Amino acid sequence: MAIARMENKVVVITGGASGIGLACAKRFAEEGAEIVITDLGAKRLENAAEEIRTTTNGKVALCEADICFEEQISDVMQLAIDEFGRIDAVVASAGVSSAGYVSGENNAAFDHPIIEQSLEDWNRVLQINLTGVMLTNRLAARHMIAAGNGGSIVNIASTAARVALPGAVDYCVSKAGVAMLTQAFAMEMLEYNIRVNAIGPGFIETPMTQVLKDDDEGLQQMLTMTPMGRMGTTAEMANTALFLACAESSYTTGATLYPNGGMYIN
Ligand SMILES: NC(=O)c1ccc[n+]([C@@H]2O[C@H](COP(=O)([O-])OP(=O)(O)OC[C@H]3O[C@@H](n4cnc5c(N)ncnc54)[C@H](O)[C@@H]3O)[C@@H](O)[C@H]2O)c1
Repeated sequence: MAIARMENKVVVITGGASGIGLACAKRFAEEGAEIVITDLGAKRLENAAEEIRTTTNGKVALCEADICFEEQISDVMQLAIDEFGRIDAVVASAGVSSAGYVSGENNAAFDHPIIEQSLEDWNRVLQINLTGVMLTNRLAARHMIAAGNGGSIVNIASTAARVALPGAVDYCVSKAGVAMLTQAFAMEMLEYNIRVNAIGPGFIETPMTQVLKDDDEGLQQMLTMTPMGRMGTTAEMANTALFLACAESSYTTGATLYPNGGMYIN
């Protein structure tokens, strides 16, 4: 029998109640990891934890937190230490497509041209998608450094880090920032044997893309931009994140992999 790739590993996953984060939690649990999920909304977290337990038999702890607040993310990391004794890996998946985005609600994605956007909205997207990821990275890394066993951080950037999407400049800039955060932080973490990588998904079937998928024009736009001619699945994203989190990618750091159906071929 194959050895589970995340056996005896403790993984903290932000945005773990939905979409790519939830898929990562399930996939990592299948590979033997103990999981801490964090997100907004206690009920959503409880439902997700129940889903992970019933589908994988894995151990899951949960902690509600808004990644804009350092103290709240700090509490999440402390919960992982208290419940499972350490932190080996992190997946930073919490994110928004626009300032008003609420996961699971009808959110338009490419509808906020920068020329009209309020500074408040711009700052909110950067705060969640970039600063929140930075805080998640450093708070997890502090525990990893103290434990002295190295670790692996996987950030969820986006193909939009390198594709200009009119009406979503804040999103593109925030994700380009995550890709560079991943590179630069990887350099800082070399001496601690902590690898920092990212994935940059294309159009994936999650609540974030539902509004585009429900609209004929939006769906056509996504498919036209994707050489493979289909949207990606959360399971495909979880497999890519798993590769970066586990020892199979032991010689990889500072990289962003782009599981995007070939969007960068041309
Ligand atoms: N779906 C796609 O096509 C796609 C493509 C590229 C990148 N991404 C990125 O993948 C990540 C996951 O998105 P998804 O598609 O699974 O959507 P999703 O809505 O299913 O998941 C995002 C999660 O982040 C949480 N979140 C948002 N703001 C938060 C905050 N302030 N504090 C804590 N949690 C917060 C939401 O509650 C939600 O559960 C995001 O970073 C997104 O930008 C998604």
